[in-house]
Amino acid sequence: MSEASPSLGPLVCVVGARPNYMKMAPLLRAFASRGGLPKTMLIHTGQHYDLAMNERLFTDLQLPPPDLNLEVGSGTHAVQTAEVMRRFEPVVDDVKPACVIVVGDVNSTLACSLVASKKRISIVHVEAGLRSFDREMPEEINRLLTDQLADILYTTERDASVNLAREGIDASRVRFVGNVMIDSLLAHKARAVPVATTVARAGFDPAVVEGAAGFGVVTLHRPSNVDDPASFGEAVAVLVDVAQRIPLVWPVHPRARSNIDRFGLAATLRDAAITLLEPQGYLEMLGLMATARVVMTDSGGIQEETTALAVPCLTMRENTERPITVVQGTNTLVGRNRKRVRDCIDDIVRTGGKRGRVPELWDGKTAERIAIDLERWVAARTSAPERRVA
Ligand code: UD1
Repeated sequence: MSEASPSLGPLVCVVGARPNYMKMAPLLRAFASRGGLPKTMLIHTGQHYDLAMNERLFTDLQLPPPDLNLEVGSGTHAVQTAEVMRRFEPVVDDVKPACVIVVGDVNSTLACSLVASKKRISIVHVEAGLRSFDREMPEEINRLLTDQLADILYTTERDASVNLAREGIDASRVRFVGNVMIDSLLAHKARAVPVATTVARAGFDPAVVEGAAGFGVVTLHRPSNVDDPASFGEAVAVLVDVAQRIPLVWPVHPRARSNIDRFGLAATLRDAAITLLEPQGYLEMLGLMATARVVMTDSGGIQEETTALAVPCLTMRENTERPITVVQGTNTLVGRNRKRVRDCIDDIVRTGGKRGRVPELWDGKTAERIAIDLERWVAARTSAPERRVA
């Protein structure tokens, strides 16, 4: 745990899966620098556990090791969520948190929020109010429910407040503070690993990324793209098309990796100019994205990171919970539509593609704003302990 302070219990900070780590790292640093905040306690649910999906990211992001790992591992959504809840409840009983701080939209985010809410412990949700309006996405359910339960909701873009107001969430609970993910990006950009190094370390010839056409980066892991053989086949066909013009590098998520093998897609990929890598560390991913001509993804965070890096992003989904990246940033929704992708690649080859601008308050100082705001909240609570809400 970090350095101590007032009489309240700790700020219990929860991470579970890869996209949580880059959001929590700047928050922990900012909390540690504010004397008016209670100590922090970092809890890892263990949703992600592989070295490549987990420890490497902790090291890259200079995250302290968790104070506690609940080691829930994989399972169906119900099993995973229930297991996090079962293991998190006694921790809450034991440490009596001042509040529980959750980030993003993974199963661990919702599970810990449910436990805290039943215990009447205040919940702080960082990255609140994003909506894809697509309930096929497990993350959309996690977002909707976590926001209903949260007492303080920190948002990354102004439209998020509109979504929350529509769902009956009082504006007094919502604060527009910017994007903590971009805090991490700006803090670590200078340490990004050069792409040739990443490719060579994986045993490939760096020439694959050093040709005149440059290179593109792929990440795919959404169930809607990789869990169904026909959909994954379509996605791969799109990538093969693109690779004829721009060679691609693809760090493959475990979910996609096992389905490439199961659906017999390995040979098609091998024959195309598509280099498959293991999941990469944060600094390797930054290096890949920052120097790519195009990034093709279904990740939420990467839509934001490419916007901040001014690199064109083709999102292989029909919707996004991050519309600001389309309206202001470099993102274009292309789904698995070959014609749409071809048009975008034409534009990228001809003009460099969409450049966009960096959205308001994506300035590297979001965690600091959150820490200052929480310090005020703690001060108000210490003087009026019976009041629970913001
Ligand atoms: C989870 C999040 C998703 C996030 C993604 C980033 C939910 C609902 N989904 O999806 O929002 O974008 O993380 O990676 O919370 N596996 C491993 N090693 C690990 C972790 C998982 O091999 O360290 C395997 C599991 O066995 C499983 C698959 O990867 O088969 C999926 O893992 P899971 O945690 O269920 O969801 P993700 O698809 O990673």
